[in-house]
Amino acid sequence: MKNADKFQPRYQLHEYPGRKPWYVIRNYINEYSKPGDTILDPFCGSGVVLCESLITRRKALGVDIDPVAVFISGMTCISPIQIKQLKKDFQKIAAKAKDKIYEIYAVPDLCDRCGGKMFASRVARLPGELALKATCLECNKHQDSIISLSEWEIEGDIEIPYWYPKDIKLPSDIQGNIKYLHKLYTIRNLKALSILWQSLNLVKDEIIRELFRLCFSANLSKSSSMNVPKKTGKGWTSADYEVYNIPDNFIEFNVWEGFANKFQLCLQAKSQTNDLIGDYYNYETFKLFKSSSEKMSFLSDDSVDYVLTDPPYADLVKYHDRNFVRRAWLGYEHEYKFSIYPVMMKNVFKEITRVLKSEGYVSIMLKDTSKEFRRDILEIAGSSGLVYDKTDRRNLGYGNKHVDHVINLKKGKI
Ligand SMILES: C[S@@+](CC[C@H](N)C(=O)[O-])C[C@H]1O[C@@H](n2cnc3c(N)ncnc32)[C@H](O)[C@@H]1O
Ligand SMILES: [Zn+2]
Repeated sequence: MKNADKFQPRYQLHEYPGRKPWYVIRNYINEYSKPGDTILDPFCGSGVVLCESLITRRKALGVDIDPVAVFISGMTCISPIQIKQLKKDFQKIAAKAKDKIYEIYAVPDLCDRCGGKMFASRVARLPGELALKATCLECNKHQDSIISLSEWEIEGDIEIPYWYPKDIKLPSDIQGNIKYLHKLYTIRNLKALSILWQSLNLVKDEIIRELFRLCFSANLSKSSSMNVPKKTGKGWTSADYEVYNIPDNFIEFNVWEGFANKFQLCLQAKSQTNDLIGDYYNYETFKLFKSSSEKMSFLSDDSVDYVLTDPPYADLVKYHDRNFVRRAWLGYEHEYKFSIYPVMMKNVFKEITRVLKSEGYVSIMLKDTSKEFRRDILEIAGSSGLVYDKTDRRNLGYGNKHVDHVINLKKGKI
């Protein structure tokens, strides 16, 4: 497969930790199920299994405990979307918010070419000064300059015009130099985010509004002060949501431009799902639940043909913490009760076995896990009544040559 094909717009818009390659998932769906079958992913994350199931004309059932995962999955799969309306509503948001936001990024320089006003697209902090990349909105010229901190920095309290998640304490077990969520942004970016959030929430069509909220959420990490230039000098590395830290040399990006880029990706993603899923998506073919999979009382016994999933690996990746900032902006609850890992997995496997049809298969994707961990998973699955079939060696990353494992199990005899 060509590298370009590995990265499909439908999975490019919003990052999600642990997202698995769609082409590996597609192969498993084709191998273990047929069109019309029902496929369950009880740890659905950003919804790759669900979306590929719909594309291959299977029915998709998704469960995740995290509301952000459910939100991303839902928006990734929903189809068809009126692209014309989406573009129209973007223009409405732009009419309300774009100029107001650009004003916040005005810089002292004028455009070398046309004398027009310039606005910062990107500002890197250097010791005592700032490296600006500014854009002229008249003639689209980009200009680099160095200015002193005092020419640009906003000092003290300025009024943030609309709502934002204020005074929310970040999870205390996460290290870093920032304690409050709103301090992850410069005052300038916080103001821009609040204007944008207010404007996009005025969009009337509920589904289209949700898509704009997805674009907003996808741009939150780039809007924060946690991004730094790459050591090589070219480009930048993004925020790490497992450590809330603002380095001295952080880069500040223009919130409107980041959002507009995400919107372009959203257009591509939804045009693609329109083509691939179209009106196959409906209440019968797609069901999504925000719940722990330890109790899937919403699913009846013997109703699922195939389970394909990528479970959390003990506490290796803190999905819950990594989505904290997005949950706060999107207005989802913050606290859940988690069962300790082996107990949770035992309960989930019991439920998987209950809802699976006899002779149905279960494939468990395990990326970067130890032999001991795989053995524990097998033991838990075995004690729930599933029978071991085989382990495949697959590359579950996007790079070359990495060997991961997929464990295949069956309900009933092999
Ligand atoms: C490895 S990620 C899945 C990523 C997914 N394969 C993708 O492509 O995006 C594991 C997911 O399990 C979810 N999770 C953790 N505990 C859960 C539970 N008890 N019930 C349901 N989901 C849970 C997490 O919120 C996370 O989204
Ligand atoms: Zn110009």
